[in-house]
Amino acid sequence: TPRVFSGIKPSGDLHLGNYLGAIRRFVPLQQTHECIYCVVDMHAITVWQEPEDLRRWTYEIAAAYIASGLDPKRSIIFNQSQVVEHAELSWIFNCVARMGWMARMTQFKDKAAEAGGENSEAISLGLFAYPSLMAADILLYKATGVPVGEDQKQHLELTRDIAKKFNHDFKKQIKAAGHEPEFFPLTEPMITGPAMRVKSLKDGTRKMSKSDASDLSTIYMLDDAALIAKKIKRATTDPAPLPETAEGLAGRPEAENLVGIYAALSGRSVDEVLSEFGGKGWGVFKPALSDLAVSVLGPIADEMRRLLADRAEMDAILRDGAERARAIAAPVMKDVRDIVGFVR
Ligand code: TYM
Repeated sequence: TPRVFSGIKPSGDLHLGNYLGAIRRFVPLQQTHECIYCVVDMHAITVWQEPEDLRRWTYEIAAAYIASGLDPKRSIIFNQSQVVEHAELSWIFNCVARMGWMARMTQFKDKAAEAGGENSEAISLGLFAYPSLMAADILLYKATGVPVGEDQKQHLELTRDIAKKFNHDFKKQIKAAGHEPEFFPLTEPMITGPAMRVKSLKDGTRKMSKSDASDLSTIYMLDDAALIAKKIKRATTDPAPLPETAEGLAGRPEAENLVGIYAALSGRSVDEVLSEFGGKGWGVFKPALSDLAVSVLGPIADEMRRLLADRAEMDAILRDGAERARAIAAPVMKDVRDIVGFVR
């Protein structure tokens, strides 16, 4: 069976974008794929994290995975720092990848600008090398599919570039050891369906993110029903009614965002949603969207709170996941050490 890997960074409270772009889509893959879902705590510390927050958010993501329907017996659920091979392989990838590749990453450029300019003393070396660790996450398991939101696409292209260059640089050693020439697979991004780029509720040109300043712009997974309703009610929209078809959403980013969210939450296509709501006003659509969002997120939040109350149980799940992840990662890493020429 094909293997998928994906991860979420514990660097803030989980929001609707994380749910729709990632977590929601992890669940059905359990039927068709071997699934590895990680809490990427080592990625989180590329920008400063209060240790207590890091820990809390790590548990929060693991709880969200399980509460959303991931079965920790079936899928591997763990946090990255418990499998040291991620760090080890990322170092080797740091030596395979090129500075120029990293410098072109738009996420790096955005975050560097936020932190005070590209040459600033404020940017960690880890932030620059971030995609190299991400490639290590995926390739350590030779995963062929990666379900993510649209914003991770460029990182996945770089993952392919690293795999290609490794396979090429060590062609002779890979062959001599009797491996397939494609030692590391060329990973496919899995970015399909509506809501692959959920926008801020206050600004249809910006993505919803863990670190948004405006409280009303982001629906968090642990928001209660009243707060979800309030945020949707106050969401920015244009004054026109909803269009009859998806084409009518062009040039209307706020409308496109809200309809995309509705489609993703209801498991319907954008056109199906518009065949119900086309021609109606926001006064009709927004309450329907709030009810839908509350009916999907409410039970997940309740289950998350229940899970988060028992850290010992969460620790046991993460430890078990880490052991099973390591059982896959360790033999791959052993092959890599031999290929590179490290003496054991
Ligand atoms: P992170 O933690 O920023 O986001 C986690 C997942 O949520 C998706 N996402 C969104 N999807 C739709 N709309 C949004 N507004 C939105 N915001 C976030 C992201 O696309 C992602 O799928 N670098 C990754 C974490 C990572 C990873 C990996 C992912 C590390 N190693 C290996 C896959 C495979 C990140 O920062 O995601």
